[in-house]
Amino acid sequence: MRQIREAWGSRFGFILAAAGSAVGLGNIWKFPYIAGENGGAAFVFVYLICIAIIGFPVLISEILIGRTTQKNPVGAFDALSHSKFWISIGFLGVIAGFMILSFYSVIGGWTLGYVGETLAGNLSNFHNPEEAGALFGQLVGSVTWGVGFHTLFFATVMFIVIRGVQGGIERSSKIMMPVLLFILIILIIRGVTLEGASRGLAFLWVPDWGKINGQSILIALGHAFFTLSLGMGAMLTYGSYMSKKDNVVSSAAQIVFLDTLIAIMAGVAIFSAVFASGLDPAAGPGLIFQTLPAVFSSMPGGVYFSFLFFLLMAIAALTSAISLLEVVVAYFVDERGWSRKGAALVFGGSIYLLGIPSALSFNVMSNMTLSGKTFFDIVDFLASNILLPFGGLMIAVFTGWIWSRTAVISSLKAGAEHLFEVFPAFEGIWLVFLKFVAPILITLVLLNSLGVL
Ligand code: TRP
Repeated sequence: MRQIREAWGSRFGFILAAAGSAVGLGNIWKFPYIAGENGGAAFVFVYLICIAIIGFPVLISEILIGRTTQKNPVGAFDALSHSKFWISIGFLGVIAGFMILSFYSVIGGWTLGYVGETLAGNLSNFHNPEEAGALFGQLVGSVTWGVGFHTLFFATVMFIVIRGVQGGIERSSKIMMPVLLFILIILIIRGVTLEGASRGLAFLWVPDWGKINGQSILIALGHAFFTLSLGMGAMLTYGSYMSKKDNVVSSAAQIVFLDTLIAIMAGVAIFSAVFASGLDPAAGPGLIFQTLPAVFSSMPGGVYFSFLFFLLMAIAALTSAISLLEVVVAYFVDERGWSRKGAALVFGGSIYLLGIPSALSFNVMSNMTLSGKTFFDIVDFLASNILLPFGGLMIAVFTGWIWSRTAVISSLKAGAEHLFEVFPAFEGIWLVFLKFVAPILITLVLLNSLGVL
């Protein structure tokens, strides 16, 4: 006998879990440093536009496909199209989940490791970012440290996913997301009350349009995708546990709102502190692990803020990582008849193993490169820059062109009747974005990743 499929306990639980998926290393680690490298406010502005015109419509579409079919990405495309081509698109999503989680867990492990280093008192006596950078190099250069914290991070992810949609994912998100917001508020208050913080705020609010070019627009567009967890069926899978009575459009709007709010809040907290210490906002990927520890060392009560900051990142990374594993687990549970626990252990275990060479890419395997890229870089590039935009493109095309228009619209309206009464044009606008705007812009991002543009 088939068991009843799992579902969220409430709409609020779904919003928190989905926002938990969206809010991750992308918001707290990546967004601030790419904004820093690409001119601050002007970049933030372009990013917000990308979120609105691409992220939001595609997010609605992913959640809708999931909610309509109540299935994982493979089963969902099968149910809606019965076509081998579309089934393989769903399958690519499962593969992307496999790949992204493998390296995501390595960085997630670093955040846990930094919580530990703070507690051990190792992060509080730097005089400049170079010293903090030297410790960072030493830590990630250690096989036991890198693989050890990858293991700890992954074990936590598996533990939550094994406990199920309601008992694991929803329950942990309901605890972790409020804690995350609370920590972020404390960090913002600390940041903006530092002397010299206003220069950091000006950096985020006063645009320097000279820094915007084709390249930075494509970076913003690609990031809009990654930060909303789009393009591989994570939101589709979370949508599949949603009730048909719930409003997809307003849920998507709330997820976008929370994700954007938290990215901006992280930017405010980080840039006010970085500028107050007179450090470089364009330090790149090392901004968080090298510049910030130097900032914390120089501020009163820095150890506590350092602890809170890395805990914040660890929480954000965990709630995102569980959504990646859930896609893979949902596929094996729905389509292949595995138990949740078996699928999480066997396939989670395989993803964990695939992550090991990524952890080793910062030490023993750092010289093994293919056209300058380590194993970590290759997996990241293939998944984030090729599979995700391609998946997002296919989701937009599927909803805009393949799925029967009457079926899409009646699905979309279910639970959102009120919205369509007050704003009947929404349907047409949404479809135009999915049919034309999103496919064209995503194709440009993809061509850029492939080096054609
Ligand atoms: N959105 C997360 C972040 O910003 C990462 C993430 C989680 C993700 N699940 C995803 C990205 C699925 C793409 C697809 O860090």
